[in-house]
Amino acid sequence: MEILNNKSIPVVNYASGTPEDIPILMQGGNYIREGKDSHKSTAIIFSLKEEVGALAKALKIFDDDKVNLLHIESRSSKRATGDYEFIVECDTHEGNITGAMERLREASSYFKIISRNYKDNSGTQLADVTPWFPRKIRDLDKFANQILSYGSELDSDHPGFTDPVYRKRRAQLADIAFHYKHGTLIPTIDYTPQETETWGKVFTQLVDLYPTHACKEHNHIFPLLIENCGYRADNIPQLQDISDFLKDNTGFSLRPVAGLLSSRDFLAGLAFRVFHSTQYIRHHTCPFYTPEPDVCHELLGHVPLFADPEFAAFSQEIGLASLGAPDDDIKKLATCYWFTVEFGLCRQEGEIKAFGAGLLSSYGELQYCLSDKPEVRPFDPQKTGIQDYPITEYQPVYFVAESFADAKHRLMQYAETIPRPFSVRYNAYTGSVEIIDSKKQLDNIIQDIKLDLNILQSSMLKIAVMDS
Ligand SMILES: [Fe+2]
Repeated sequence: MEILNNKSIPVVNYASGTPEDIPILMQGGNYIREGKDSHKSTAIIFSLKEEVGALAKALKIFDDDKVNLLHIESRSSKRATGDYEFIVECDTHEGNITGAMERLREASSYFKIISRNYKDNSGTQLADVTPWFPRKIRDLDKFANQILSYGSELDSDHPGFTDPVYRKRRAQLADIAFHYKHGTLIPTIDYTPQETETWGKVFTQLVDLYPTHACKEHNHIFPLLIENCGYRADNIPQLQDISDFLKDNTGFSLRPVAGLLSSRDFLAGLAFRVFHSTQYIRHHTCPFYTPEPDVCHELLGHVPLFADPEFAAFSQEIGLASLGAPDDDIKKLATCYWFTVEFGLCRQEGEIKAFGAGLLSSYGELQYCLSDKPEVRPFDPQKTGIQDYPITEYQPVYFVAESFADAKHRLMQYAETIPRPFSVRYNAYTGSVEIIDSKKQLDNIIQDIKLDLNILQSSMLKIAVMDS
């Protein structure tokens, strides 16, 4: 997806022009980010045991093993007060990457490979080994320690970069998310009048477009959010209230996220019907522009669709397909996610409507996507998954789903082609992913299907009696 060190996102103040004047309103709203080229690089996070000269020592390891570094950044550790940790992306084309990893692991008090693509000493392509993935819903707590960048770290061209009050607020909200644990309540945020005013400007502008531009599912659910979750121009809804609402409708839930997740981790959350959501809001000086997802994007764009059963099922299929998938397929699935959950269009009663959150949270792109300017193609995971796309301008190409059910069906067909030595299914009773790789498990599935068939048969008889 996006590069680790993106310094090229321009700042656009919507207040200075009309929607047509402004080519860039949204980075895309995808709270995931990958290395420059995940096929050719390995990204790691580590803290070293010795403080003094720690970075020099780490760099010497890479130098000794002739491993080229594509990106490096440091930050204060959230795991141990006073410690620093480093995020490094290594080029895996040259050098002894395996040796460097082993030496670095020995020298580190904390060491985590975020994504990898390299060969071990026997020449085995380690990316071919099934990567770890969460099996229980509470395993998602581990992602907080794997974020690629804290939400309080702003790029120099971020509208709030020079605002110490905004930066302090971002750090406060990032801390809340970092310490959040599954099963606990998401803390209520006491949003300031200035934050609420920013929300109100975005809310008021977008609700005017929804009736004509949004898909029917979004328009059906949005009034329910007004009724049940405090969606109003003068109130920023709380994540816990929304999560409770989603849970009642589709079993989806929200959890706050402290920073950028890898595509693999972000998609894995969807397998459990969990959506990682930001809790902060964009800078008040640019209410109609954000270089990253914020509550406006999440709550106006994403949340309504997660309350729709068909869309929820489609989203979960992307997540389930990602579990243990090779890096190549993660990239394709993340691209399918981009062109559906973020920027998807659908055909409804002969018209094209928007259902992607990046569209439903951008006044300018929501109008542009339904104009005759962009190219529109049918959603086909095999083709959609390899489509390039820009992240700092409106999409030149959109993909149209015939329905969420059809998109899910196509995605499941694509998932069958992903090389994985097992199948998975989600057990909602236990909040866990079951690995289907034995006859006993097949028997369990058959028993479940028989039970459902009995219910189906009984229901059909009763309905037939009522109709007669
Ligand atoms: Fe998003």
